[in-house]
Amino acid sequence: MSTDAIVMLKNDHKAILRAFRDFEKAGDRAVKAKSQIVDNIVELLTVHTYIENEVMYPRVRQLVPDLEDDVLESYEEHHVADVLVMELAGMDATDERFTAKTTVLIESVRHHIGEEETEWFPEVRKALGRKVLQDLGRDMEAARERAPRRPSQPGALKKTIDAVLS
Ligand SMILES: [Fe+2]
Ligand SMILES: [Fe+2]
Repeated sequence: MSTDAIVMLKNDHKAILRAFRDFEKAGDRAVKAKSQIVDNIVELLTVHTYIENEVMYPRVRQLVPDLEDDVLESYEEHHVADVLVMELAGMDATDERFTAKTTVLIESVRHHIGEEETEWFPEVRKALGRKVLQDLGRDMEAARERAPRRPSQPGALKKTIDAVLS
């Protein structure tokens, strides 16, 4: 299997986009199916964001200063996704906001993945080359082993948000 960092991240993206389509294909009343699909989305995004945040983004920022603005914007997009993921992880699928929140998460992550794949990953490949991308990929595989599968303390965040909103 390839350890090329960008190939690995694009494989993750494929699995994430597939789960998004599963969600969109599930019927309006398929509460149980949608709940399982969102569990899967939460896990896929938690792991993927972790390895990008821990390995890919800091290394790109350090090695390709021209891409600093793209990396900083991407961190912010991860942050927005993290908030939604954390809320969804603590939310029952019967909640009236569940589908709306998932739909907003899907829209925002699709946009983010599109920017990574078309706007700045190609620049990273040009700047770093094959050997460095393979080293990066190996570090990302190690990060994947220790990555959390779920956001930490979703219940605590939900309580905070409920307290703020009420
Ligand atoms: Fe990302
Ligand atoms: Fe990504």
